[in-house]
Amino acid sequence: LHVDWDTTAAQKGGYDFFMQKEIFEQPEALKNTVMPRLHNGRADFSADNISDDIFKDINRVVVTACGTAMHAGLVGRHLIESMLRIPVTVELSSEFRYMNPILDDHTLVIVVTQSGETADSLAALRLANERGAKTISIVNVKGSSIARESDYVLYTHAGPEIAVASTKAFSVQCAGMYLIALKLAEINNMMTAEEMAAYCDAFQAAIDTVAPVLEMDEQIKGIAEKIKDTFSAFYLGRSLDYAIACEGSLKLKEISYVNSEAYSAGELKHGTISLVTEGVPIIAIATQENVLPKLMANVEEVKARGAHVIMVTDKDMSSYEGIYDDLIQVPNVDDRFGTFGVTVALQLLAYHVTVFRGYDVDQPRNLAKSVTVE
Ligand code: G6P
Repeated sequence: LHVDWDTTAAQKGGYDFFMQKEIFEQPEALKNTVMPRLHNGRADFSADNISDDIFKDINRVVVTACGTAMHAGLVGRHLIESMLRIPVTVELSSEFRYMNPILDDHTLVIVVTQSGETADSLAALRLANERGAKTISIVNVKGSSIARESDYVLYTHAGPEIAVASTKAFSVQCAGMYLIALKLAEINNMMTAEEMAAYCDAFQAAIDTVAPVLEMDEQIKGIAEKIKDTFSAFYLGRSLDYAIACEGSLKLKEISYVNSEAYSAGELKHGTISLVTEGVPIIAIATQENVLPKLMANVEEVKARGAHVIMVTDKDMSSYEGIYDDLIQVPNVDDRFGTFGVTVALQLLAYHVTVFRGYDVDQPRNLAKSVTVE
């Protein structure tokens, strides 16, 4: 008896690509990362053996990471600065090492990494340790170098991520930042018990919107088909949505080879608008009520120049009909937690564009899952 047994296909569990499987694993990955750490309206790191001391006497936070993980840092910066008023900088690990960073024992350095082996992030961590900063890493791979060398580790529980383009690892990295923000708030008495309980409820509610966004797969595929032949694309957002735009754009460019850039919507007029011509896809992200009218004013400008506008939002767009071509409407959440649903929609968009273009989604040219050389 001869049986053709394709172990890779078996590992894909019925999905066409690992990336697709990993996108669909996100409700589970988020649940596993977040739920064990939310107890009675507070962040509970007792099972992680993370001492409260690391969150005390902090006057600034530095996040260092590469690639997608750096974008989780941008999400964290927005949250921690706007909600807790602690200054946060986000540094690419490859730059951090060469800028003689100002670090002391009042600096909390957060290293974000899926693999825990990225050479530049490891070097950044070592520098932070040398200079006496407090270090905590958000890591997916157990026992990896960065996990071992950090003062503390907050493991994400995404399970193995095979596709080169990071999807579920990004979502749980963001979740890690939201957990650390809550812990910082508690230890430094920056939020009341009621505020923390409301935060936990809103956090869980946002995670619960990921499954319904996955159900929008067919609709998003239809939109992907319309833009599949484009040479370039631009992602726009303001405030938290700019961080999300950076990640959405990276996802598209790394796997589909579309020349894609993220721009802060307000910066558009300072250059990028010269590249907006008839039919160029503009993916506009809108989860922040306070900047919505301003964002939509920018969207109107690109629409007037013939762009194909795709709105990705949890907001009510009824008063803006006519200034976008396609709408990906995800369930509404608390503005602080806009990251989760919209990110998943952008991952699906990048995935489907790439499948339409006929490329190997899981193994894009020239890229590696883990960059262990500098
Ligand atoms: C590579 C991967 C990316 C990843 C980055 C950082 O470029 O292709 O998906 O975001 O490295 O990797 P890390 O393991 O540190 O998160």
